[in-house]
Amino acid sequence: MTTINVGLLGLGTVGSGVAKIMIEEADLLSQKLGHNLRLAKVCVRNLSSRRNFSPPTEILTTEPGEVVGQPDIPVVVELMGGLEPARTLVLQALSAGQHVVTANKALLAVHGREIFQKAAETGREIKFEAAVAGAIPVIRILKEGLTANRIQSVFGILNGTTNHILTRMTKDAMTFQAALAEAQQSGYAEADPTNDVEGFDAAHKLVLLTALSYGVLPQVSDFHVEGVTRLEPEDFTAAAEFGYVIKLLAVSTLDQADGRLEIRLHPTMLPAKSLMAGVNGVMNAVMIRGHASGDIFLSGAGAGMMPTASAVMGDIIETSRDLRAGSAPQVPALGWKNLQSWSVKPQQEIRLSYFLRFTVIDKPGVLSAISGILGRHDISIAQAIQKSFEPARGGVTLIILTHKAREMDLQAALAEAEKLDALTAPTRLIRVENQI
Ligand code: HSE
Repeated sequence: MTTINVGLLGLGTVGSGVAKIMIEEADLLSQKLGHNLRLAKVCVRNLSSRRNFSPPTEILTTEPGEVVGQPDIPVVVELMGGLEPARTLVLQALSAGQHVVTANKALLAVHGREIFQKAAETGREIKFEAAVAGAIPVIRILKEGLTANRIQSVFGILNGTTNHILTRMTKDAMTFQAALAEAQQSGYAEADPTNDVEGFDAAHKLVLLTALSYGVLPQVSDFHVEGVTRLEPEDFTAAAEFGYVIKLLAVSTLDQADGRLEIRLHPTMLPAKSLMAGVNGVMNAVMIRGHASGDIFLSGAGAGMMPTASAVMGDIIETSRDLRAGSAPQVPALGWKNLQSWSVKPQQEIRLSYFLRFTVIDKPGVLSAISGILGRHDISIAQAIQKSFEPARGGVTLIILTHKAREMDLQAALAEAEKLDALTAPTRLIRVENQI
């Protein structure tokens, strides 16, 4: 039986999972594939680190050159994370004629153009199923099963840490700080959670979903990214009263009217009865709307040693099948020959419904002053509720749900409202998504 060698760069959580499957499931894989996959070399930073799974010591090395550039290792799996030396090693591997599998979303979101270009030049594969939504095979579905579709929208819950925190805030009325501390204690959040809670991790994944869906590779700086750190328990209570839940939602959608892309990642109110609203805890989900397929909804584990390793293994297996067939990559990395140049709509021009939570002094004329400001900025009120006095915020809560309005107008109205003496605390704004 043919044997295909695989080299691994990095033996952290996901790398250990990949090594474990390759070694423990070797027979099963051979039976399913009709060829052997052999873990030939694993490059680690420190030979004596404690690991979740320890491969035989004779295949460990601290020298990346024992994996990258080795002619008898046609598949290199990059699971080191970070931008460097991952970028350099991936480019070197592609240049040396090796195929690359990676789970590194930040690397591809930041250096994707250079890396995809190199893969195209060298005719090698760069696969990245594990970079988006962990175990969910969404990349393959976008690249293959849905190829015939004009993708209209992609929505996602792409970060397990924040989804866990928001679930606790929804179900147990916890503050953000308490939910984060609990997530850290349970191992669902990192000691430095910035990348997750500020939305950068999900934004990197959204870049990749956008590239696959529309052939456009945006930069994170091209779109609005807002994390979950400013959400308060009152936002969740009010959302429930209006029939919504709050999720950190990634959105990439084509505005049919003007042909521009709307890309955004921010806390979003979703109808409580939507499938996406029921995705709780560390789970991820992606909904793809194709012109022919209609809505496809996928959900599964977005992180963790074995779920992510499952996705990496899918890429290794697919690459090994192409190698065995002696063919060039059957499906190019992005599924688009050349990246398209459609433009991304500035957030200021996007039209959405908004949830606004004002805290005001309870006296005659305040509601009329606020509604007057909204009206002058062309913002129509869909619903309004006034709540009782909240000592912590020094006023009564006034919640307004708007019809669709331009973000630019909404921001101008809020800036004007902030000048009213009647406001006793900063106004909270959460965007609403009803198309899901
Ligand atoms: N930290 C990520 C999450 C997983 O919480 O979903 C890796 O992207």
